[in-house]
Amino acid sequence: MDKLLITGGKRLAGEIAISGAKNAALPILCAGLLTAETVQLSNVPHLQDVNTMLKLLRQMGLGIEQDGDRVALNGKAVDKLEAPYEMVKTMRASILVLGPLLARFGEAKVSLPGGCAIGSRPVDQHIKGLQAMGADITIEAGYIHARAKRLKGARITTDMITVTGTENLLMAATLAEGETVLENAAREPEVTDLANLLVAMGAKIDGIGTERLVIQGVDQLHGASHAVIADRIETGTFLCAVAAAGGDITLTNTRTDILDVVLDRLREAGVVLTSGPDWIRAQMAARPKAVSFRTTEYPGFPTDMQAQFMALDCIAEGVGRISETIFENRFMHVQELNRLGAAIEIDGHTALVKGVDKLVGAPVMATDLRASASLVIAALAAQGQTLVDRIYHLDRGYDRMEVKLSGVGADIVRVK
Ligand code: EPU
Repeated sequence: MDKLLITGGKRLAGEIAISGAKNAALPILCAGLLTAETVQLSNVPHLQDVNTMLKLLRQMGLGIEQDGDRVALNGKAVDKLEAPYEMVKTMRASILVLGPLLARFGEAKVSLPGGCAIGSRPVDQHIKGLQAMGADITIEAGYIHARAKRLKGARITTDMITVTGTENLLMAATLAEGETVLENAAREPEVTDLANLLVAMGAKIDGIGTERLVIQGVDQLHGASHAVIADRIETGTFLCAVAAAGGDITLTNTRTDILDVVLDRLREAGVVLTSGPDWIRAQMAARPKAVSFRTTEYPGFPTDMQAQFMALDCIAEGVGRISETIFENRFMHVQELNRLGAAIEIDGHTALVKGVDKLVGAPVMATDLRASASLVIAALAAQGQTLVDRIYHLDRGYDRMEVKLSGVGADIVRVK
């Protein structure tokens, strides 16, 4: 199993190009199932989760041609309407094939995702929404089996805001008969990116970017070209890295208008930020100041940035109070950060982080994707060497993170 060996205390300086967003690329790849024509994608990140999704889609009969960050999808020969347990258990986002398969082919069999390190993460809202659109759904032998001659438009209010739930129902609604109204829809930029691709494919969607999506179903969708939106979480992660380690880095090929709350907290921590529409420069010369926040749905503070900011608070001046409201178990990094000398106490859904003068490197274990990123950030700021184990979590969602970080002066190597 690969590990990362990081020697902390190096200032970061230089430029990093940001990749396409994982959480936009995954639903967008599934949208290739919605048409028999070719969907041309660019800015697709090199990630293990993208590879897993491509493997799953290939098994279903989707034609796939890859050339660097470009992927061409062709859905004319899709014939296997199933996502097996072996795939879904490695990547929950596999559930995103459910809506498109059911809408275009009238049937889908998708394994129920099991538990997850960060929370129970049920998919009841995906199922409830498809049932409201007339699908007949049974759960048997661990599989969701959905059938519908043709889905019918419906008014659906999900019990909570769900990102992949909104994406699944949105894709399903594009080919349903009549109008679907999705109330309480997720407004994450990745949902908007998917919606923009669907519109380019001929879907009729109003209210993009709002909590009320209105979709007029069409008989079929056609091919289109689309560039995946920049990864705001990768952007935020590198900004936290420079905030913790100090230095001066410029991130390119990114978007600053979808990161407002994160940028506000970084300024509060003392980072000097300058930006244009597709780049951002971060300069940090002092010890960070502690920041407090509570995670919420977009445009609030993203749960996918919680762990990285916690790493920053570990070495900050003052006390940070961090509340996690999206997932019930997303503090797995706390014990590992404490092994590096952090002083974090958990009280229910809130972590109290008392900034310490220094962290000291130690062997630590990654438990999920963003937890891994927080350990890398802490290690960059720590004295001495940190060995981060189980970095397959990191490879799932960050595009060659150690290459990008060593390019700006970090002492970080992958060891086999
Ligand atoms: N929920 C339900 N029932 C459902 C759906 C969701 O109870 O049917 C609950 C979840 O258990 C959770 C909350 O609703 O407590 C929100 O979950 P959501 O469905 O929005 O999460 P997701 O769609 O499974 C996506 C991202 C996550 C990100 C969350 C929240 C993808 C592929 N994944 O997950 O990304 O944390 O939204 O923003 O888009 C990551 O990249 O590290 C990651 C975990």
